[in-house]
Amino acid sequence: MESNKNYKILITGGAGFIGSHVVRRFVTSYPEYTIVNLDKLTYAGNLENLCDVEKMPNYQFIKGDITNVTFINSLFNNHEFDAVIHLAAESHVDRSILDPSSFVTTNVFGTVNLLNAALAIWKDHFDNKLFYHISTDEVYGSLSDSAYFTETTSYDPKSPYSASKAGSDHFVRAYENTYALPIVISNCSNNYGPYQFPEKLVPLMIHNIRNNKLLPVYGKGENIRDWLYVKDHAAAIDHVFHRGRKGETYNIGGFNEWKNIDIVRLLCGIMDDKLHRPSGTSEKLIEFVKDRPGHDMRYAIDATKISNELKWNTSVTFEQGLEITVEWYLENKAWLDRVTSGAYKTYYDNQYKNR
Ligand code: NAD
Ligand code: TYD
Repeated sequence: MESNKNYKILITGGAGFIGSHVVRRFVTSYPEYTIVNLDKLTYAGNLENLCDVEKMPNYQFIKGDITNVTFINSLFNNHEFDAVIHLAAESHVDRSILDPSSFVTTNVFGTVNLLNAALAIWKDHFDNKLFYHISTDEVYGSLSDSAYFTETTSYDPKSPYSASKAGSDHFVRAYENTYALPIVISNCSNNYGPYQFPEKLVPLMIHNIRNNKLLPVYGKGENIRDWLYVKDHAAAIDHVFHRGRKGETYNIGGFNEWKNIDIVRLLCGIMDDKLHRPSGTSEKLIEFVKDRPGHDMRYAIDATKISNELKWNTSVTFEQGLEITVEWYLENKAWLDRVTSGAYKTYYDNQYKNR
């Protein structure tokens, strides 16, 4: 998409973790754009994540469900969207193991519902229109050797979450192939940073360390993830949106692989320091628990294409990003306390009771 236009952009899932960073970046960097944030506000969606931009004149929030056909059609009829950046999803692997169907409904059907609405409204006038689908590296499956996921790696999803994201990616590509809908897809590695819901590894460990709770490491902690600071992902999304070639896939990652146990130990050290606890205090909280069923061993992204073609690169090292993240969670204790009250407790007790 060319910049300097008065685009109206629909961002779905903008009240979630990554979505809130994308909304903030677009609202503040492009005052000429109108950003409409559509979010159902599930347990993972939180308007507090956006209180610094909610009064901006080029920002609008709409509460709604991407799976509601009538609602989505009338939304597209009432707004002349030039583009969609689609992030709304059920996003947590452990929850997908407990309840796969809701992942099919939101991630597959919700995406198809948006594709249908965009197609109907844009019809054959596809100039300067874009459906940008945000996906994950987990669609490629699990690596056991030193290989990397590239844009041509075959899909081999292994969890209900990754299967549902793979399904949504296939539909997005099918709409390009069948109807010439202008699309682009990016597949990113694990994100961390401010505003992440504490069901995911990094904020869960920060929350538990702060509260002197056990740190549940699945299996032997040997599984490897490739970590990216969330603001670098938002910057990559900006690059793909403005400079990506239509129909293409871009893998996003920071060449930053870590074993889970090493991250947990690193976090323990940072937290001991910040909380003025004697070195080694938090590590004593580590507990190896029953492994996740079908736990993918390793993810690793080859981000050469986006780096060479779109000139995107990371802006912080992992150590810097983690330090900023820990500081943010310590300074935003009230945010963390609020999101971990109520339904979070039920989820946590259920998820970790037999581990
Ligand atoms: P998140 O769970 O923090 O946020 C998801 C948002 O979607 C929430 O605000 C939620 O309210 C909203 N939502 C859920 N169902 C909805 C529905 N039916 N209608 C409207 N809104 C709905 O997720 P996240 O971590 O910010 O991930 C965002 C996207 O990025 C997802 O598509 C995810 O698959 C993808 N992704 C995430 C990561 C990661 O590490 N978190 C990595 C790569 C890709
Ligand atoms: P997670 O943050 O759930 O992301 P994903 O499963 O999408 O990669 O988990 C990251 C890694 O941390 C993954 O290998 C599972 C592991 N993990 C634990 O060991 N303990 C936990 O309590 C959680 C939530 C995750």
